[in-house]
Amino acid sequence: MVEKTLQNLDWANLGFAYMDTDYRFISYWKDGKWDEGTLDTGNTVTINQGSPALHYGQQVFEGMKAYRTKDGSIQLFRPDENGKRMTKSCERLMMPEYPVDKFVEAVKAVVKANESWVPPYESGSTLYIRPYMIGVGENIGVKPASEYIFSIFVMPVGPYFKGGLTPTNFIVSDYDRAAPHGTGAAKVGGNYASSLLPGHLAHERQFSDCIYLDPATHTKIEEVGSANFFAITHDDEFVTPYSPSILPSITKYSLLHLAEHNLGLKVSERDVYLNGLDEFKEAGACGTAAVISPIGGIQNGDDFHVFYSETEVGPVTRQLYNTLTAIQFGDLEGPEGWIVKVTE
Ligand code: PLP
Ligand code: COI
Repeated sequence: MVEKTLQNLDWANLGFAYMDTDYRFISYWKDGKWDEGTLDTGNTVTINQGSPALHYGQQVFEGMKAYRTKDGSIQLFRPDENGKRMTKSCERLMMPEYPVDKFVEAVKAVVKANESWVPPYESGSTLYIRPYMIGVGENIGVKPASEYIFSIFVMPVGPYFKGGLTPTNFIVSDYDRAAPHGTGAAKVGGNYASSLLPGHLAHERQFSDCIYLDPATHTKIEEVGSANFFAITHDDEFVTPYSPSILPSITKYSLLHLAEHNLGLKVSERDVYLNGLDEFKEAGACGTAAVISPIGGIQNGDDFHVFYSETEVGPVTRQLYNTLTAIQFGDLEGPEGWIVKVTE
C-alpha cells in the first residue's frame, strides 16, 4: 500500500513523551448508557470540580501500540486483551463497562485517523495508544460517579527505558505500589500515584525503575513500576511471578506462550524469591511501553545482583525480543487473533 504522507519527525530519536496528534476518540456515558462516540481534534477535557476522578481516583486506563509493517500497513497487537482488561479494571472501581468490540473499533478508528503519526517500519518507534475512562459529574461523597468519559489519544514514542534492548539496572523499593487485596491487578491511576515517589528516588540514583516486592511479606519480586518481571533459569525455564496484586501484563502472557511454543522453553508463573536470584541467568522487564528491557542488575540494600551482564543482552532475552517484535511488526505470523489490521 502507499503510505499516507508521514509527519516530519526525527522518528529514530523519539523519547517516551507526550505529543499532540490530530484526532482523539471521545465518548460520554450518561443516563446509564454510552453515546456513539466521535473523533474530534480536542486535547483537553472540561469536567465538574466535584468529579470522583479528581478526588477519589475513579479512573482507569490502558496502554497499547500500533505498529507499521514492512509493507507500510498498520496493525495492532491483541487489542481485545486491552479491552478485556479495561473491563476488569472498571468492575473493580465500579465504572461502566465499555464493550470490548466497540473498544477495538474505537482504537482502530483513532489510529487510522492519525495514520501520518505512525512511525515508519524499523525506525525504532511506534504509535502509543492511551485509552482512559474517568468518573465525572457533580459529587462530593465517596461514591461512584453519575457520568463517565471514555477517550483514546495517541502519540508516536520511542523506547520507554533508555537504551531499549541495552540492559539497565533496577532497585528494590521499600515502598509498595499495591496492597495484598487492593487494586494492584487493575490498571488504575492510584497504583501509579503511589509509585511516583519510589520511582523518583530510583531515578535519582540512576536506576531505570523500582522492583516492587509482594506487599504481604516483602520477600518475593512482584513487578516493575511500569512493567512485569521475568527471568530465565540456568536450565532454560521462563519464570514470571505469580501474584494477585500485579498487573496482568498482556506482553507477559504473550511471552509465556512464545517461550513455550516458539522457543521450546519450560514456562511457569510462580514465586520469585529475592534471596533466590542465583537461580536465574537472565532477567528482564516486559510491557507495552517497555517491550522487553533486559535487567542488568538489581540493587537490594547494599547487595547488587548482576544477571547476564550489565552491558550485554542475554541470548534468551534477545530471542524472546526478536520473536515478539517480529510478530508485532508483521514479520512473523503470530497465534491466531493476535494481530488486528488497521490498514491493509
Ligand atoms: N505492569 C505495570 C505496572 C504496567 O504499567 C504495565 C504497562 O502496561 C505492565 C505491567 C505491562 O502490561 P502490558 O504488557 O499489558 O502492557
Ligand atoms: C504501558 O506499558 O502501556 C504502560 O502503561 C506503562 C507506563 C507508561 C505507565
